[in-house]
Amino acid sequence: MSSAKMSPAPKVTTHVLQEMKLKQEKIAMLTAYDFSMARILDAAGIDVLLVGDSASNVMAGNTTTLPITLDQMIYHATSVKRAVERALVVVDMPFGTYQGNSKEALNSAIRIMKESGANAIKMEGGVEIIESVERILSAGIPIMGHLGLTPQSIHKFGTYVVRATKDEEANKLIENAHRLEDAGCFALVLEKIPAHLGKRIAGELSIPVIGIGAGPDVDGQVLVLHDMLGITQDFSPRFLRRYHNLKEEITGSVQTYIQDVKSLDFPNDREQY
Ligand code: KIV
Repeated sequence: MSSAKMSPAPKVTTHVLQEMKLKQEKIAMLTAYDFSMARILDAAGIDVLLVGDSASNVMAGNTTTLPITLDQMIYHATSVKRAVERALVVVDMPFGTYQGNSKEALNSAIRIMKESGANAIKMEGGVEIIESVERILSAGIPIMGHLGLTPQSIHKFGTYVVRATKDEEANKLIENAHRLEDAGCFALVLEKIPAHLGKRIAGELSIPVIGIGAGPDVDGQVLVLHDMLGITQDFSPRFLRRYHNLKEEITGSVQTYIQDVKSLDFPNDREQY
């Protein structure tokens, strides 16, 4: 019998994502917030795991992403990173840790990288955060940008409707996308914008563009795990494809368990010592 070991799957790096764009191989990205889920997603072959500040909604039950703290993001990121062997782990910089002051932004990014072991961070915004972006990049920390619908600015937008449908906002978005690429971001997320605009930006930029509601002609797609698995069901934007109805399955399993306990069916002879 051969004693040769299977070689571990090569790690996804920012360089690998760049090559995938060149080869026109689509990038698959999902959110993850905990060890057990991250281990399943990584073993399934996901390319990028985003420790999104959507943890504020799906893990903590807040109505927006604003309340989550840097310490809480680091806790989620550390749990995810511990589970991952192959995927690139990207962590959202939470609201209030980078918008005002580039020195504070750098300190926040350094804490995420040092304490969680993550591979990169993600930041929402364009020209208005460019000083922070440049300072963090100059410290050698890779940044994924995020434009279009940026949930941390929900109180400014006032609504979660599709962004950049008018020329003025679309032109500003294109300009911001170029600013982020020129600054040195390794990838860009575009959220909830017209498909033709997603296509145009992915075509103009040389870095990978990952869409969530940005149409099919971008370099990859991202979804929030709890939405695509059907754990959360109160959120149904057009861009969301549900791959499972896990809420129903969990409910069924829990109801059967309750019945088994109450009817003395569980534990049986084989389930005791
Ligand atoms: O926090 C998050 O889950 C995100 C994705 C929607 C891209 O930023």
